[in-house]
Amino acid sequence: MSRFLRLFEPLSRNCGSWTKKLAEGPSLEAFIANSSVPRENYDPTEVPYLIDESAQLKKVFFEVYGCQMNVNDTEIVWSILKKKGYERVLNHNAANVVLIMTCSIREGAEQKIWRRLQDLRKHKQRRDLQVGVLGCMAERLKTQLLEKEKSVDVVAGPDSYRDLPRLLETASGGQAGVNVQLSLDETYADVTPVRLDERRKTAFVSIMRGCNNMCTYCIVPFTRGRERSRPMNSILDEVRHLSLNGVKEVTLLGQNVNSYRDMSEESHPFIRFTDVGLAKGFKSKCKLRSGGLGFADLLHQVAEVDPEMRVRFTSPHPKDFPDEVLQVISSHKNICNHIHLPAQSGSTRVLDLMGRGYTREDYLTLVDTIYKFMPNVSLTSDFITGFCGETEDEHQMTLSLVEQVGYTFCYAFPYSLREKTRAHRRLEDDVPLEDKKRRAIEILEVFRRKAKLKFEKQIGDIQTVLVEGESKRSTEELFGRNEGNTKVIIANEVGGERIHPGEYVSVRITNCSSQTMIGEVLRKTSLQSSTDEEEKRQMIL
Ligand code: SAH
Ligand code: SF4
Ligand code: F3S
Repeated sequence: MSRFLRLFEPLSRNCGSWTKKLAEGPSLEAFIANSSVPRENYDPTEVPYLIDESAQLKKVFFEVYGCQMNVNDTEIVWSILKKKGYERVLNHNAANVVLIMTCSIREGAEQKIWRRLQDLRKHKQRRDLQVGVLGCMAERLKTQLLEKEKSVDVVAGPDSYRDLPRLLETASGGQAGVNVQLSLDETYADVTPVRLDERRKTAFVSIMRGCNNMCTYCIVPFTRGRERSRPMNSILDEVRHLSLNGVKEVTLLGQNVNSYRDMSEESHPFIRFTDVGLAKGFKSKCKLRSGGLGFADLLHQVAEVDPEMRVRFTSPHPKDFPDEVLQVISSHKNICNHIHLPAQSGSTRVLDLMGRGYTREDYLTLVDTIYKFMPNVSLTSDFITGFCGETEDEHQMTLSLVEQVGYTFCYAFPYSLREKTRAHRRLEDDVPLEDKKRRAIEILEVFRRKAKLKFEKQIGDIQTVLVEGESKRSTEELFGRNEGNTKVIIANEVGGERIHPGEYVSVRITNCSSQTMIGEVLRKTSLQSSTDEEEKRQMIL
């Protein structure tokens, strides 16, 4: 039996009897048709028998750790609780429910949360407070969380947020509320997330959940379950809604965002670019699905919603980059010239041990192809240092890959052993922690040196920057991002006119460090009115 089947064993064990009962009983359609709720007002997150009157008094505080998907999941949770009458507070002392959205990717991420739970235990001794652990750590540790930390009242995994109102209600009755059931099809497609900061001009949109890749070091397939894509129509509805609300940039999110595939029938009238979407020369470890709509189709449709809205995506896997995706990116002005392309290692032997499904050469060939489609692209990446058996020479190969590619940003993570993973079962975590940390620092040094050179070459260029907010350095300054996702610091006015978050400005780059650029604002602009290169030429003329 495959590991995934085992993961879903409780679900499949019950499946037979449930399927039979469902087949014999009234259909969902009949249930909805006969209910007192008019069909057009039907809300699938409503559970008719659960009227939580006490929710009127509940003040919830969210704490978010981990990746961007956790931010978006918190927005889904907030949407579900808001409908149930919960109020959100921005100070945890004012809350009677604290929900912590957790991450399990490395041991350090979990330790941070254990410390926070200990803190909350003290608060609980002083006042009436419910503590809920949501997300990946909830899924990984399940009821162990309750055993280890008495302050926890609710444990809810990434696929059980619809059940949260019931779990909180159960906890109010004095019993712990636990739901860590993973799902094969939950995408929360019908839940419109309520953004945590509605003033922000940038937003996250989840397009798929879970991951089938099973990289040998990674806990995500165990905490997030099997990969599934959200129907395209529901994604487009959300993007339109964000556009109407003044959002100027959406980031499409998923653990393997470019293996997106919508097989649902209602999406089929859309034009199709791809059939099976692998990058040339890449192999896939999981079964490929053909038909339906792929990532290139989705990107195209999202970009067409609003030409003044920037589109980004994260994180893609290098294997899922057919030329069609690159074509769509390079042919839309509003899809940013930036690709986060996690390499993890520059050594083919280590990549093989990691189960990444590509060699150093495959990766570099893909980088060349990307540069052909988008000569000005910014590439960023993730690396793991000191993976099982990684030698000093293999680390040097990673450094040479970083040198060769010339990233504008990299994360480098010392390898952290995760229980249950293939690396835990079959490999030895034998690189000393000091070496892992030193190797990570060395990767950062190389990428920073190269990034600074790249940025220095851009001094004098005119770039379009989307303004995001006040700079940390001074209230007189704002920060925004260029297409490559690099932060650009600018003044807060141009020609006496104030500049606001959400506006595009044309900026001449005047200085840089390895992380940030400084720019002089020339004028306010729009995305479609000019490209950076055109502007540069105009300036020369
Ligand atoms: N799905 C994304 C990212 C997943 S997690 C992807 O494949 O790119 C983000 C990053 O955390 C990974 O890219 C990897 O670099 C790092 N990571 C994952 N598991 C890790 C582990 N056990 N130890 C250290 N870093 C890890
Ligand atoms: Fe983890 Fe690999 Fe999936 Fe990324 S692609 S989430 S690293 S298993
Ligand atoms: Fe962490 Fe889960 Fe994201 S483990 S990185 S929160 S998918």
